[in-house]
Amino acid sequence: MKVFVSQKELASYLNPLYHSNYTVGFVPTMGALHQGHLSLLEKAVEDNDIAIVSIFVNPTQFNNPEDLKKYPRTLEADINKIKTVSTEILIYAPSVEDIYTGKTVSENFDFDGLENQMEGKFRAGHFDGVGTIVKQLFEIIQPTRAYFGEKDFQQLQIVKRLVSKYAIPVTIVGCPIYREKNGLAMSSRNERLTESERKEASMIYKILCEAQKLFKSKSAKDVSIWVASEFKKNKIFELEYFEIADEEQLLPCVAKDKTKKYRAFIAVFVNNIRLIDTISLN
Ligand code: PAF
Repeated sequence: MKVFVSQKELASYLNPLYHSNYTVGFVPTMGALHQGHLSLLEKAVEDNDIAIVSIFVNPTQFNNPEDLKKYPRTLEADINKIKTVSTEILIYAPSVEDIYTGKTVSENFDFDGLENQMEGKFRAGHFDGVGTIVKQLFEIIQPTRAYFGEKDFQQLQIVKRLVSKYAIPVTIVGCPIYREKNGLAMSSRNERLTESERKEASMIYKILCEAQKLFKSKSAKDVSIWVASEFKKNKIFELEYFEIADEEQLLPCVAKDKTKKYRAFIAVFVNNIRLIDTISLN
């Protein structure tokens, strides 16, 4: 497996390939890879001449220092998982210094308000950090296509906005959520759950499925009240937010508009571990 730890090394390997008009499929990750990431990689391999995965726990997108400290770092295991998809995949696993020469700070972005909804309200500066790293990774890798999971749907919309605002020549491909057998959305943070928390966490998806059914006949407000009441009954999970919003602008649904596509978004804490999920409603 080819593992690059510096931009320079990677650039000198990639330069001749760009000249041959190779298509490059890119999957940005923070490591602790799971089947969801591997499915993105499979798609990147299938659609492109070369596939690259980055593994970098980006400090500027963490609003909570404890979360950053505890974020799983499992490079060896990640490399072994990538191998099961293809041994040809290139891995870029830089240090913080390689990415943030000088100060580890993010740029300030205006994503037309997308950054102020949901995750943006609860994680100050998060999307500035995401925008900074994704823009930089696109500059370094110059991918033809980049693959993002729909679990982070708000991130996916923000990355699409980033690319259109800065005219970055890359196609953003959104990919369906990968779930564990019990419905829990796959996430690197699931690694930190105990076995019983992981089992219990299936309730998040069950609630989303029920919300999907209820939304057919009830208002967004009534569905939200029902979800909040379900979480009040539960001792392990604490609801941070549940919101029904339209997919394009991510604005809360006040009155249903038949021309819009809606989604439910949820963030939940279990024992200080934060889990998010989302489901399409129509
Ligand atoms: O979704 C993630 O894992 C991260 O936000 C990303 C896109 C790799 C940027 O650090």
